[in-house]
Amino acid sequence: MQPRKIAVANQKGGVGKTATTLGLASALSAAGKHVLVVDMDPQGNATTGLNVVVDENTLTSFDLMARTQEGTAADAVIATPWDRVDLIPASVALANIEADGANDLIFRLDVAFEGVDLSPYSLVLFDCPPSLGKLLFAVLCAADGVVAVTEPTIDSVRGVGNLEETIRNVVRRPNPGLTFDKIILSRRRNTGEHTYREQELREVYGDLVARTAIPELAARQDAHSAHTPIHEFRGGRAIALQLAYTDLLGELDLSVKETA
Ligand SMILES: Nc1ncnc2c1ncn2[C@@H]1O[C@H](COP(=O)(O)OP(=O)(O)OP(=O)(O)O)[C@@H](O)[C@H]1O
Ligand SMILES: [Mg+2]
Repeated sequence: MQPRKIAVANQKGGVGKTATTLGLASALSAAGKHVLVVDMDPQGNATTGLNVVVDENTLTSFDLMARTQEGTAADAVIATPWDRVDLIPASVALANIEADGANDLIFRLDVAFEGVDLSPYSLVLFDCPPSLGKLLFAVLCAADGVVAVTEPTIDSVRGVGNLEETIRNVVRRPNPGLTFDKIILSRRRNTGEHTYREQELREVYGDLVARTAIPELAARQDAHSAHTPIHEFRGGRAIALQLAYTDLLGELDLSVKETA
């Protein structure tokens, strides 16, 4: 059985997409499941977070996007220091893809995964770049579902609306099976403003908004700098983040299958 492929997205920068991708990967790993992270951001923050260093010989997500070829994703998968977490890394070269005018560009990632046996994994997570550009479209063509990550701020309702519109456009033509799975509130602080904006999002999007919000805690950045899965990080209030990512994973109806 093939796992679900989920895009972790929002065109806004710094909202916690990479933290959520790695937090969910950490929760899956802690549960004894295998996960594949695909870094689709030229910044390569998921790659760095997983302590993987790319050199000129490393196959990356750029190679998946540079030409149309079935199955290239299998060649680019590497193991990471995190137990049960594999990665297709990113490099800065990926930024050049936005300038590629090829007609089939947005289908290349999907084609790269064609025929690839992903059955060892419980889930595939695409860490998306902060834009509504071609890379995001390519991910949305290859994915089964989208998880939007947003901070509860004044722009979040509009920002999620823009992403929703993009998803609707992709569903209309290239990928009718794509679903909008969840909106995740990230970097939540106990301020009046965050409480108000969270309420606003819940009023507009109802059950689509995950019940579990990810709190803003310094342990997230400390674990990232230490390249450590949050479920193995000791200190600060890391336990609160561990619980939040575990609960979040439970809330996402990802049809995560059991792996042997
Ligand atoms: N729950 C959290 N608590 C504290 N800091 C956080 C949390 N989540 C993310 N951060 C920090 O906020 C910054 C941005 O987070 P992250 O890189 O995950 O966002 P992003 O949406 O992936 O950004 P980009 O759009 O640049 O890819 C990072 O320094 C990260 O460590
Ligand atoms: Mg990121």
